[in-house]
Amino acid sequence: MASASATVSIHRTAFSPPFQFQPGWRAPLPLRCTHSERGVSFDPGSAFYRSDSAPGRDLAVLAATLHRQRRLDPSSPFLCLDVMCGSGIRALRYLAQAGADFVWANDASDALRPVVVANLSRFELPPSDGQRRWVVSHLDASRLLAERYLRREYFDVIDVDSFGSEAEYIRAAFLALKIGGLAYLTSTDWRSARGYGGKCSLSSYGAYIRPVPYPNEIGLRMLIGGAAREAAMLGFHIKPVFSYYASHGPIYRAMVQLCHGKEDDISNYYGFICHCKSCGQTQTFGFDELGQISCGCADRADATSITVVGPLWTGPLHDASSITEMLNLAVEWGWAYTSENGIILQKLLDTMIEESDPRLPPGYIRHDEIARRAKVNSPPLGTLISSLRKEGYAACRSHIGANAIKTNCPISSCIEIAREIRNMR
Ligand SMILES: C[S@@+](CC[C@H](N)C(=O)[O-])C[C@H]1O[C@@H](n2cnc3c(N)ncnc32)[C@H](O)[C@@H]1O
Ligand SMILES: [Zn+2]
Repeated sequence: MASASATVSIHRTAFSPPFQFQPGWRAPLPLRCTHSERGVSFDPGSAFYRSDSAPGRDLAVLAATLHRQRRLDPSSPFLCLDVMCGSGIRALRYLAQAGADFVWANDASDALRPVVVANLSRFELPPSDGQRRWVVSHLDASRLLAERYLRREYFDVIDVDSFGSEAEYIRAAFLALKIGGLAYLTSTDWRSARGYGGKCSLSSYGAYIRPVPYPNEIGLRMLIGGAAREAAMLGFHIKPVFSYYASHGPIYRAMVQLCHGKEDDISNYYGFICHCKSCGQTQTFGFDELGQISCGCADRADATSITVVGPLWTGPLHDASSITEMLNLAVEWGWAYTSENGIILQKLLDTMIEESDPRLPPGYIRHDEIARRAKVNSPPLGTLISSLRKEGYAACRSHIGANAIKTNCPISSCIEIAREIRNMR
């Protein structure tokens, strides 16, 4: 990582003197517009930039926009902090699309300064009142966030788009966030998520992870669980607005809202997930059930068939009403049905709405696993889901895996239903 320097320019409202707009400041000449995301042009220059991550940025902009409209005091300036900004594309999109009044774009690398400043300059006309709507700095994330907290400069949205695990920044981000604000968290620590980084997941997220058949959902639950624990330590609780797994990277992202007060009982949504290799059943267990973890299948005597992971987030992955509003906004803006990097937002958000059903337990079952256990050819995924629903179970696709089903139906009944579809019962 490049060394952090305290190069900071410009700002808008109640920020401290070192960040005042300097008279005589002139915007650098715009770079060539080589890229565009949803109509916003920019040049990533030498910054780390992946167009595959555009859907993750779309989701953030939709959620931030709705938060701006719905927050308790909509007349106060809407402030966004892009902690690891790279080219500044997120900062730019929060300004241009989410209606941010002020955006702080930071990246530890001061070599990126011309790129970020040129991209943000393109958005804004020269200042008329000596104040601008953005600032660029080159501080280490922890220092930046700690300084904002010490100066009581709280933000509505804080976006931390790190490489690896960002667990070390979660608490610092919460401290610099307004209560009710949104933190957009990222992890690319797939080794931990998939159970090959036990020590790392323990030190980062306080969770012990071993391989289970739905590792990428575990990655999201590890990230949200870590955030829930950090919030609880500070006397708050969180609500996931959405969580999103993207296979490039792979990347685990969660937009969480920081809410006032501790959850009455954090263990409602924070506990252990148990998978039985022998029968394929997944169950959740609370802290008060730690001594009773077992599976009811015939192989219960075989302790090696049971894998327990946690503690991690066991509640819903998204908030259905927020996602519904995001989908409506995407439709209104003409974003819903166009494919950006192969992702159609309407399909993604529809799946997320279904995944938000509070009856659905953690995990998913691969549809070929059901077929293998039932000893039948795989029934079509859609047919299996509607049959499960007809039997009164919650069932849907998973946004994480194309061939996976989330359901509260026990695996033994899934097998029966698969056989019935194939007329084998
Ligand atoms: C994944 S890239 C950011 C990409 C960008 N947010 C986007 O959407 O295109 C991560 C960035 O974090 C910066 N970075 C790494 N460690 C940092 C730290 N401790 N503090 C601040 N920035 C850091 C890197 O220089 C890099 O530009
Ligand atoms: Zn079992």
